[in-house]
Amino acid sequence: MTQKNRQWLIAARPLGRELQDSDFEFHEADVNDPSDGEVLVKTSYLGFDPALKSWMENIAGYVNPTEIGDVMRGTGVGTILKSKVHELGEGDVVCGPLGWQEFSVVRGEDVEKVPLDAPASAALGVLGTTGRTAYFGLLHIGKPKPGDVLVISGAAGATGSVVGQIGKICGCTVIGIAGGPEKCAWLVDDLGFDAAIDYKSDKVRKQLRELAPNGVDIFFDNVGGEVLNDGLGRLAQNARVVICGGISRYNYDPRDPEQMPPGPRNYFNVVHTGATIQGFLLPNFRNQFAVADARLLKWVQKGDLQYKEDILEGLENAPQALMRIYKGGNFGKQLLRL
Ligand SMILES: NC(=O)c1ccc[n+]([C@@H]2O[C@H](COP(=O)([O-])OP(=O)(O)OC[C@H]3O[C@@H](n4cnc5c(N)ncnc54)[C@H](OP(=O)(O)O)[C@@H]3O)[C@@H](O)[C@H]2O)c1
Repeated sequence: MTQKNRQWLIAARPLGRELQDSDFEFHEADVNDPSDGEVLVKTSYLGFDPALKSWMENIAGYVNPTEIGDVMRGTGVGTILKSKVHELGEGDVVCGPLGWQEFSVVRGEDVEKVPLDAPASAALGVLGTTGRTAYFGLLHIGKPKPGDVLVISGAAGATGSVVGQIGKICGCTVIGIAGGPEKCAWLVDDLGFDAAIDYKSDKVRKQLRELAPNGVDIFFDNVGGEVLNDGLGRLAQNARVVICGGISRYNYDPRDPEQMPPGPRNYFNVVHTGATIQGFLLPNFRNQFAVADARLLKWVQKGDLQYKEDILEGLENAPQALMRIYKGGNFGKQLLRL
């Protein structure tokens, strides 16, 4: 193939600081042919997750280390142009670790066929990592029961908005914490949350006292820091605190005690309430993905689960697409259409 492959490379490690343009280098390479067991994929969408920064920094122990000069990692959806895999053919739409580039050669076992009964982009969000994270984090770690009060930080984000809607399906009272009146209105008016707290203008602790007078049964945390501390201060007896993410920390260097903020002051409340605090990593639920995928698809098709996508255009805008996540610039799942 004579066509060139436009791609973004990792140029620097943004450890202990915000991302900046010079962390990425634009590059053109040849398009390679697949070998046995591989497919050549043309990317149509890339999805952006907060964890990508930690992969550049080599601080996420659950993924292979990156090198400076590597194609920036990222999950994408695309169409197979050439296949050397028996089960995958030309024209199949697949989702997998395509990286920030127009064409990628990937191993067949690393991609999943995208179901034809939903938009392909949904495989990067509600019917992919995002939906699965919400599903396992809430149902397996949070263990919701009808009548539970569920509070979610980062609630208007891709994961948080799905958590809240699954919480409503389970019969919980759902309170979201998000940044700004527009995001809060969307949670209540469109997604059916019972209440929303704008952490940028409200006092979260005071609002939780008013909205959850008997305490919080499940605190699903995507943010960490002060918001987590406020949640820990309002726990009900036998509450479950689900540590999904901690985006307020992602610009700190976790190895630098000078940079890291102190731990949550209200942690001792778990003694008085018998609460549990548990983290989780989505890949550890891999062998149960099929069950989650089928339920998530059914909820989407029935209209019980709504989702929002925030789509930028053009591979050249990939760094901006990632950077806006850490500033709350995205409203819904951050995607890029190539
Ligand atoms: N455990 C796992 O296996 C797993 C898997 C996937 C994702 N995650 C985690 O899940 C969380 C959500 O990921 P996502 O892909 O769904 O992203 P997202 O929620 O769509 O986007 C991130 C949101 O975080 C909020 N935010 C950014 N900086 C913040 C800060 N300093 N303080 C408070 N809020 C801030 C912003 O919303 P506002 O405008 O409301 O501030 C932003 O829109 C992340 O922490 C991610 O690392 C965990």
